[in-house]
Amino acid sequence: MSTVNEQTAYNYKVVRQFAIMTVVWGIVGMGMGVLIAAQLVWPELNFDLPWTSFGRLRPLHTNAVIFAFGGCALFATSYYVVQRTSQTRLFSDGLANFTFWGWQAVIVLAAISLPLGYTTTKEYAELEWPIAILLAIVWVCYAIVFFGTIVKRKTKHIYVGNWFYGAFIIVTAMLHIVNHVSVPVSWFKSYSMYAGATDAMVQWWYGHNAVGFFLTTGFLGMMYYFVPKQAERPIYSYRLSIVHFWALITLYIWAGPHHLHYTALPDWAQSLGMAMSLILLAPSWGGMINGMMTLSGAWHKLRTDPILRFLVVSLAFYGMSTFEGPMMAIKTVNALSHYTDWTIGHVHAGALGWVAMISIGSLYHLIPRVFGREQMHSVGLINAHFWLATIGTVLYIASMWVNGIMQGLMWRAVDSNGSLTYSFVEALSASHYGYVVRAVGGAFFLTGMLLMAYNTWRTVRASSPEAAEAAARFTVEGAH
Ligand code: HEM
Ligand code: HEM
Repeated sequence: MSTVNEQTAYNYKVVRQFAIMTVVWGIVGMGMGVLIAAQLVWPELNFDLPWTSFGRLRPLHTNAVIFAFGGCALFATSYYVVQRTSQTRLFSDGLANFTFWGWQAVIVLAAISLPLGYTTTKEYAELEWPIAILLAIVWVCYAIVFFGTIVKRKTKHIYVGNWFYGAFIIVTAMLHIVNHVSVPVSWFKSYSMYAGATDAMVQWWYGHNAVGFFLTTGFLGMMYYFVPKQAERPIYSYRLSIVHFWALITLYIWAGPHHLHYTALPDWAQSLGMAMSLILLAPSWGGMINGMMTLSGAWHKLRTDPILRFLVVSLAFYGMSTFEGPMMAIKTVNALSHYTDWTIGHVHAGALGWVAMISIGSLYHLIPRVFGREQMHSVGLINAHFWLATIGTVLYIASMWVNGIMQGLMWRAVDSNGSLTYSFVEALSASHYGYVVRAVGGAFFLTGMLLMAYNTWRTVRASSPEAAEAAARFTVEGAH
């Protein structure tokens, strides 16, 4: 038996494709966010047309940011991480290519069908059945590529980041398929197989776990690879990462009923959802602490490295939103927060502060590497992006806290006769200033994304196909 060094190459092509599309869809989805935020300030921007009305563009925004922007970031980073930590090329180039084009097709079909008004009406699961089936096929191929790569890995262990990506892929498939079981009545219309409170429970089991597995677990996979890489330090505790993994996936799945407090859902199910949400604080913070503490001995790098700043601040927002979430799950707190802008603020603390910031930091690390460049074209622009994103997020969530708590208190205020003190319109007009501040915050965040697009374009332009190919080559030391 002799040891030979085998020259081979990673499939970086699909990583490059998904990375570029993350930036593109980020701009489209957040642009849509700024537009609907502006519609809430200036209703004239609905243009009196059904296709451009808030009700139709809102699901377009959520689908574009979650599935197009977040999804492409997850595909790009998971394909990059699984190859590098398994020291092997992707299981199948053909299938990986299919996942790229299939995923883009789903996004384009969503962008056409949602403004036209075709929707299942289930939040975050709006796409009608032919598109939902295409999505399921793409997802199964994704699972084959990812797990096939794990199976043919050249390393002994499965790196912890891959455990998180793997759980995100399996659970997303399960959620999508169960929640979409429906009866089609035409090409563009279907009805859910479930009825009444059962339908609501299945929907929010899906909805909450879309947050837990799509918007959290996948991005934790990102954290476990890119934070140690960028900080050039090992993970703070490998043992904690294993506890973190099992605790998180065991607990998340039970918390869905906190979306249905004070509804027709049986009371015990609501209380169970509340209790499990409170317990969920522990694994969430365990993971955040593991990420943060990875910087032990490397904190000084924050002074000069804006990419690391993106990653660390995203963890701070993750910690903040996973503290706020369990608090909002307490029934008495939810009685105030539900239906108000507080929920919207919470969503974007997670979505902008955590999901978008960790993706942006990871992409700034990844893009030069897959295009064969030393670093991004301009570190100064990354720094400017960091500040725009941070200030934008703070403006967004602070204005929604003020609006949300004010709305909740105004709606429940009663005078000495027991009549409502304020009409709904009074609470709405009091919210106007908050909506202006939110739109400004969103515009800050979007401007940062435009800087990222320019920086990426300059980095890609300075690269050559040969340099990109050379970057993908690696050597496996193996025994034959
Ligand atoms: C420039 C950045 C953004 C702006 C200005 C923005 C704006 C908005 C607005 C105005 C709404 C509707 C709120 C309402 O109905 O009262 C909304 C909803 C939503 N956005 Fe964003 N958004 C942005 C980025 C993002 C990102 C990056 C994500 C996810 C990764 C995201 C996820 C969501 C979700 C999930 C909802 C629905 C919330 C709910 O139903 O409770 N947004 N956004
Ligand atoms: C321990 C973690 C978390 C818990 C216990 C939690 C809990 C909650 C609660 C109680 C609500 C309000 C439900 C309502 O009144 O309708 C909510 C809404 C929401 N949360 Fe969280 N949250 C957590 C973390 C996160 C994170 C990290 C994100 C984003 C990345 C996020 C995204 C959302 C979204 C999108 C909604 C709005 C759902 C909708 O009504 O459309 N959450 N969460």
